[in-house]
Amino acid sequence: MTFLRIHKKWTITAVGVVAVAGAVLLYWANRPPGATFIDPTNQDLVVRGKVIYANTCAACHGAKLQGQPNWRERLANGRLPAPPHDRSGHTWHHPDAVLFDLVKNGLVPGRTAPPGYQSDMPAFGSTLSDEQIIEVLAYIKSTWPPDALRMQKEVTEQQQRR
Ligand code: HEC
Repeated sequence: MTFLRIHKKWTITAVGVVAVAGAVLLYWANRPPGATFIDPTNQDLVVRGKVIYANTCAACHGAKLQGQPNWRERLANGRLPAPPHDRSGHTWHHPDAVLFDLVKNGLVPGRTAPPGYQSDMPAFGSTLSDEQIIEVLAYIKSTWPPDALRMQKEVTEQQQRR
């Protein structure tokens, strides 16, 4: 019967549309928190992030975000010292999603570092929550001068368009 066949086709289409919409919604709800722009003017984030930075990052990256001395030269073990997070370093060259990933997972060889790469940057995924990682990054970003902030916002937006 034609009527039934048409009806069935529409039902299948409708189910398909609902499934796709559901998948998009699920993806949106579960998208990595690092993918959205981390706002350095949000004082709630910055105030909490400052405390996390002092307790968790300053020992290596410096209380004033200045990094370790001679941070461009490899140590005797072949690894790099901790770089500064201020304008003199290159933290501000990376989009938010990459910074989030680096703090959560450390430098992952073959993904955020060359294959076989060894690094002293710890992975904080088991000690800091996603929210805390966003807070500490908001604090670091809040110390940047306007030109660095503007450029970092641009690379963040470029990456999200991809
Ligand atoms: C035990 C020392 C140590 C601690 C603690 C540490 N880091 Fe690092 N971090 C490093 C080192 C060393 C590197 C450089 C890694 C490399 O290039 O091999 C690094 C690199 C980074 C980078 C990449 C910078 C770039 O320009 O590519 C980010 C971002 C970063 N750290 C953030 C943090 C944050 C945020 C914290 C605190 C939650 C933290 N680190 C705590 C040692 C540390």
